[in-house]
Amino acid sequence: MSKMNDLMARGTGLLGSDYAILCGAMSWVSERNLVSAISNAGGFGVIACGAMTPELLDAEIAATKALATRNFGVNLITMHPQLFDLIDVCAKHQIGHVVLAGGLPPKGSLEAIKASGAKVICFAPTLALAKKLVRSGVDALVIEGMEAGGHIGPVSTSVLAQEILPSLSEEVPIFVAGGIGRGEAIAGYLEMGASGVQLGTRFVCATESIAHPDFKKAFIRAAARDAVASVQIDPRLPVIPVRALKNNGTEAFTAKQREVANRLDAGEVDMAAAQLEIEHYWAGALRRAVIDGDVDGGSLMAGQSVGMVTCEESVAEIIATLVQQADEALRARG
Ligand SMILES: Cc1cc2nc3c(=O)[nH]c(=O)nc-3n(C[C@H](O)[C@H](O)[C@H](O)COP(=O)(O)O)c2cc1C
Repeated sequence: MSKMNDLMARGTGLLGSDYAILCGAMSWVSERNLVSAISNAGGFGVIACGAMTPELLDAEIAATKALATRNFGVNLITMHPQLFDLIDVCAKHQIGHVVLAGGLPPKGSLEAIKASGAKVICFAPTLALAKKLVRSGVDALVIEGMEAGGHIGPVSTSVLAQEILPSLSEEVPIFVAGGIGRGEAIAGYLEMGASGVQLGTRFVCATESIAHPDFKKAFIRAAARDAVASVQIDPRLPVIPVRALKNNGTEAFTAKQREVANRLDAGEVDMAAAQLEIEHYWAGALRRAVIDGDVDGGSLMAGQSVGMVTCEESVAEIIATLVQQADEALRARG
């Protein structure tokens, strides 16, 4: 057994995979094809439920099961209005791992997931939240830094890893996410106490990913500095920042915020409705880019590791490269 397998043992034990390498759920991208390919190649795939209805999630899980020979998980967003129905769908399919994203899980949701026999994995964007989640009984954490693609927290991966791994990695397995493009970085986080890692951006251009060819081309062309975080234009309208490749959609989002902020001022919408509208905007813009290939006006959510995505290759090749790099780095350190 290699040193890498050794360091990943808690992660692979929890996930039931060969490698503790999760492909983080990506709305529209992490569907049956990519998810089954990741798990079949020895990693751990996670379906992105996003804004799906319970019926759609039911169908997606069934279709993924038909393709997958190994375990996979389901990512649910905590603010989904039908969260508990989605948990029931996962339970019906005996999904072994539910990943909760989007802030503190609502009351009763952890219990409902655990009652189905599934493990609960939660995102922790800060140390305070990580401690709180561990106290409330989560089985594992994903700590995700602001280098990541999609919705991001305020702190970088390198700082989160230093703050959280030494104090909490004894208590629960922790997976590090955000900005990982090569195996040497995986080796580093494993040595610091992580039980595994989660990558998103690096898997977008996998052959098995259904992302539009133009979406993949934009990733292959982009450099790290092109993946920028959205700016909040109005202090009264808190918007979770999103990291994406800069394009006309970036300006359109600024205009959208201004429009929603004006309607908030005019009393036409309340804060919750305003924030929900922003989230629906992102989901629609991401779909236009990923599925329709509108790389100009849609949202090209991508992390800073996009500069390390240089070609389309199979999931098995990507995982083999990451594992080889991590193995060699650990061996070189003795
Ligand atoms: C295109 C895209 C869409 C994403 N959508 C989601 C999502 O729907 N839910 C979620 O929890 N995370 C989402 N993420 C974050 C990933 O699950 C993952 O944590 C992140 O990509 C890891 O950082 P990296 O991009 O630097 O590898 C998304 C990321 C990308 C690039």
